[in-house]
Amino acid sequence: MRKKIIAGNWKMNVKPSEAAALVKAVAEATAQYGNVETVCCTPAIDLPAAIAAAAGTHVGIGAENCHWKESGAYTGEISPAMLVDAGAKYVIIGHSERRQYFGETDETVNQRARAAIAAGLVAIVCVGETLEEREGGKLVEVIERQMNVGLKDVTAADCAKLVVAYEPVWAIGTGKTATPDQAQEVHALIRATLAKLVGAEAAESVRIQYGGSMKPGNAAELLAKKDIDGGLIGGAALKAADFAAIVAAAN
Ligand code: PGA
Repeated sequence: MRKKIIAGNWKMNVKPSEAAALVKAVAEATAQYGNVETVCCTPAIDLPAAIAAAAGTHVGIGAENCHWKESGAYTGEISPAMLVDAGAKYVIIGHSERRQYFGETDETVNQRARAAIAAGLVAIVCVGETLEEREGGKLVEVIERQMNVGLKDVTAADCAKLVVAYEPVWAIGTGKTATPDQAQEVHALIRATLAKLVGAEAAESVRIQYGGSMKPGNAAELLAKKDIDGGLIGGAALKAADFAAIVAAAN
């Protein structure tokens, strides 16, 4: 049985002065759902406040990106070792917004993911197709490429620290959700692709989250699908009550 994992992706929302209150509200509202792994991924500058607020609760804190080097002359970047030192436990890698606006490629996703896992973080590696790719019949090709290149040289042993998030780009922040059947189809493809990379047993153990307009009203039917093991939540993670309702649906 894979433990369900619901992670908030705060994106460039929530100021450092607001972070502790949101984490505390999430911890309180989800306290009764201890069998769901509950995570808030915050802007890097919010991490100290978020980590302090989560101390002693079941909520884990993560970052939204990291570099692959441990240290060095990389102005503006943050290393996995720094995140670990700050007390972060998770990091999102290769979100479509980073691919779209900041030049992230499958190759840099691979470097970041392997470095994060090696440092002891749980890497939440994002894949997903654009509407153009889906309508152009390229869904399978795109997902397989993102998986094969993005997770190259990730081992079966690494899978304990790996979560994959399927986020169809056309569903992010648009209010359009993939239907449970559409999502399940891609989650099964992701697991099958993973099995070729790390073996069937390790692939069975990896949690695959759905992301893209997941909200209280649609979470339960998505999470009921065989290969949907959680959610990566943007907009609905900014209100503790909405986020908690999704955690409740996963419970
Ligand atoms: P959304 O974002 O829930 O606002 O669609 C999800 C994400 O981008 O991780």
